[in-house]
Amino acid sequence: MIVIARLLGVPEGMAPDLLRWSNAMVMMYQAGRTPEDEARAVAATEEFVAFMRDYVRRRRSEPRDDLISALIAAEADGDKLTTDELITTCILLLNAGHEATVHTMGNGVKLALEMGVRPGTAPEAFVEEVLRLDPPLHLFTRWVYDEVNLFGHRFRRGDAVGLLLASAGRDADCYAQPDRFQPTRQGPPNLAFGAGLHFCVGAPLARLELGIAMSALFQACSGLRLVEAPRYAEIYHFHGLERLMVTR
Ligand code: HEM
Repeated sequence: MIVIARLLGVPEGMAPDLLRWSNAMVMMYQAGRTPEDEARAVAATEEFVAFMRDYVRRRRSEPRDDLISALIAAEADGDKLTTDELITTCILLLNAGHEATVHTMGNGVKLALEMGVRPGTAPEAFVEEVLRLDPPLHLFTRWVYDEVNLFGHRFRRGDAVGLLLASAGRDADCYAQPDRFQPTRQGPPNLAFGAGLHFCVGAPLARLELGIAMSALFQACSGLRLVEAPRYAEIYHFHGLERLMVTR
């Protein structure tokens, strides 16, 4: 949370609030969400928007070397972002900028401990293999705009399509023994960050954070081990752990 807050230029002291708001908001993606989940998400959104509205207003006259200042100054075809566009972009970045990375870190530490593999000092291949085998966002939805035939399926305008990003990572036509964790494997790039127009804008940052954090953790705690079987959270909107109990 602190990384993305620092990048945007939002006070790090806000991290506990940002985390609380973000966690409540992403519950809107939970399958079978309750009216209480919805009420909490709306309340969190209102608090978040109120905070950002005031913050953006103050920061307009106080540019610094951060992303909020760049967004305030950004222009496309003579148009600036409106205040509402600025606020929602900042909220999107703050939420998207930590939830998935946090879950990937948990999944990665779990895999390292279970498989006895360490990220080492050149962790890039390790991180990619975590993203292929155990990505935090397993499904994204698309809606069909135009009728199209693809792979023997006929899609009609308005159809909802579930893109199983996690399943793509286990495609046996692309990866030999796809269920095995093998950081040295060859194969096409994974789809954990999506593809096309909406490819994750934070992928380079996430990859950097994951590599640095995993290497640093295992350097600092070389004897790290599990004390109980890791438990995945019973949620639909992220594939991540509820508990990862370790000792060193
Ligand atoms: C391991 C960590 C991450 C994973 C697995 C991940 C995954 C994804 C995926 C699959 C999408 C595409 C959604 C779609 O197709 O509709 C996406 C979009 C996005 N991600 Fe990430 N993400 C991660 C980290 C981050 C970070 C660190 C940031 C911010 C700095 C970020 C910001 C965004 C934003 C703003 C979008 C929307 C892009 C658009 O719609 O054009 N993500 N991410």
